[in-house]
Amino acid sequence: MVIAIDGPAGSGKSTIARRVAEELGFYFLNTGSFYRAYTLSALRRGIDPSDRDKVLENALSTAITVENGDICIDGIDAEGELHTPLVDRWASPVSSDPRLRELVNSSVRSLASGMDIVTEGRDTTTVIFPEADYKFYFDASPEIRAQRRLNDQPGMDFQSILESIKERDRRDIEKESGALRIAPDAIYIDTSLLTINQVCEKVIKTVGK
Ligand code: DC
Repeated sequence: MVIAIDGPAGSGKSTIARRVAEELGFYFLNTGSFYRAYTLSALRRGIDPSDRDKVLENALSTAITVENGDICIDGIDAEGELHTPLVDRWASPVSSDPRLRELVNSSVRSLASGMDIVTEGRDTTTVIFPEADYKFYFDASPEIRAQRRLNDQPGMDFQSILESIKERDRRDIEKESGALRIAPDAIYIDTSLLTINQVCEKVIKTVGK
C-alpha cells in the first residue's frame, strides 16, 4: 500500500508521515531528503548549486540510500546535515531540474516497489505516485509554518524564516517541473490549528487501520 502526502514546507508532512508509518508498521520515505542530499553532496564538493549540469553529473556519481529511514550519501549517514540554511536555500532550485527529478522519482519508485510505505514530498501524489492508494494534501498558513520552524530551530529570527518560507513557496509553485499542486483526488487537511496527534488520527482513520 502507498500512502502519499503532499504539501508546502512546514505543513507537517514529514512529522506526520514518519509517525503514521511508525504506527502502521510501514516504511517511511521522505522524497525531499533526496533533493537535499544531492544539494549537500554538490556543496561539499565545491560545486556551484546553480550549475545544473555539474549538479546532475555529481548526482549521477553519488549513491543515495536509505538506512532505517535516514538518508546516506555514499554509505554515510547525512540526515543531520540536510536542514542547514544553505541546503534549505539551494534544495528548491536544485530540485527544479527535470533530469534530476527523473533520477529521484525512479529511485523512489524502485525503493517503494512491493512495500507498504508512507511517502511525503511535493509531487508525490501528482507525479511519483499518481496511483497511490491514499493521497493527502497538508496545508497551513505561512505564519504557522514559520512558527513551527522556529520551534525546531530556536534562536533564528521569525521574520526571516517567514520570508524564506514565502520565497520557497513561490519557487515551489512556479517550478517548471514538479511544481507544488493539489491532486484533484487528494484529501485536503489544513493542519494550522491541529496537533500532530489529531492529524495522525485523521490519516489513520481515513486509511481504515
Ligand atoms: O520537503 P523538503 O523541504 O525537505 O524538500 C526539499 C526541497 O525539495 C524543497 O524545495 C521541495 C523539493 N521537493 C520537490 O521538489 N519534490 C519532492 N517530491 C520533494 C521535495
